[in-house]
Amino acid sequence: MKVNGKPCRTIWVAPHNARCVQIIDQRWLPHRFVVEDITSVADMATAIQDMHVRGAGLIGAAAGYGMYLAALAAPQQSIAVFMDALQSDSRSLQATRPTAVNLEWALARQLDALRAAPPQIDVRIELARTTAQAIADEDAEYCRRIGVHGQALLAEISARKGGAPVNVLTHCNAGWLAFVDYGTATAPVYAAHDAGVAVHVWVDETRPRNQGARLTAWELGQHGVPHTVIADNAGGHLMQHAQVDIVLTGTDRTTYTGDVANKIGTYLKALAAHDNGVPFYVALPSSTFDWKMRDGVREIPIEQRAAHEVRTISGWHVDQEVEVLLLPEGSAAANYAFDVTPARLVTGLITERGICSASAAGVLGLYPERAAGQRGAGSSAGG
Ligand code: MRU
Repeated sequence: MKVNGKPCRTIWVAPHNARCVQIIDQRWLPHRFVVEDITSVADMATAIQDMHVRGAGLIGAAAGYGMYLAALAAPQQSIAVFMDALQSDSRSLQATRPTAVNLEWALARQLDALRAAPPQIDVRIELARTTAQAIADEDAEYCRRIGVHGQALLAEISARKGGAPVNVLTHCNAGWLAFVDYGTATAPVYAAHDAGVAVHVWVDETRPRNQGARLTAWELGQHGVPHTVIADNAGGHLMQHAQVDIVLTGTDRTTYTGDVANKIGTYLKALAAHDNGVPFYVALPSSTFDWKMRDGVREIPIEQRAAHEVRTISGWHVDQEVEVLLLPEGSAAANYAFDVTPARLVTGLITERGICSASAAGVLGLYPERAAGQRGAGSSAGG
């Protein structure tokens, strides 16, 4: 996508230093656009854990590049020592954030590729670089395709409304900042907007870290998409009053049975959508499916972050970021970062291969190569 009119991705290898990976440090958006140099796997782990980069696809891409940086620094006495170091670095990266399954997926892809490669260290370092690049390129391409498939839904609503703006509600940031490019929930919006379909987006602010207010609003603005930021609790009211035509969200992990983990508050939006007959779609690349889990509510690990994020709020004052205390000094705070929306509340899943129902039958219909070995896939089909 574009920043100030220039094409930009969220992560890339520095043009003049192949030992440096560059990221947009999202903690500063929307007030400052900061590019950070990452030169070690430890720095990449910090960038993921402290959310300089965040969002399922981008966490996966960052993990892929983290393994490349790990390969550059790993001891070279023998191939066994080299691979042991990479295995240990992959465990450090894995420990950074538990909910987004793209992290585990990208680390496994790197380790599988490296183990299968010829046992020369220089060959494996180069392979770690090309695998990281492939993960990033594939993420961007899959998000582009999600846009193509999802755009048809928006075009259909637009036609039904005689060309009046299609009102989309989205939660958190599943935009291009959460991936390498295009985003998932936003990809259909960008594609429709570019094709001349009138679209307006209701942007949930998404406490406590305000990814909607800070990031989704910024990227929609950069692309010229009309949008309005709302308090998290406004969605139900808007749906009751026919102000929302469709809810589009992303996801950090979706079971192959269609249960969707996403930013805390998504479940409440799905309940409100269900109650008001508003279609609720979730957009994701295949790297966000968990092919092993069947019951998302019981099995998906839910990250709990520091209470500090709930107790305080930060924003821009004069020319600097300031943080202020919101709560009484003595009040306890809890910070559940994600929730799980059961498949029965999800109208459909928009993937790079097309749109399917949120059920094992729907998902495995699109990904038949995954059908073998699923727990109970042949039985009640979930959802
Ligand atoms: O905690 P974050 O910012 O990494 O959470 C991820 C998200 O932004 C959302 O949950 C998003 O909707 C899905 S990730 C594409």
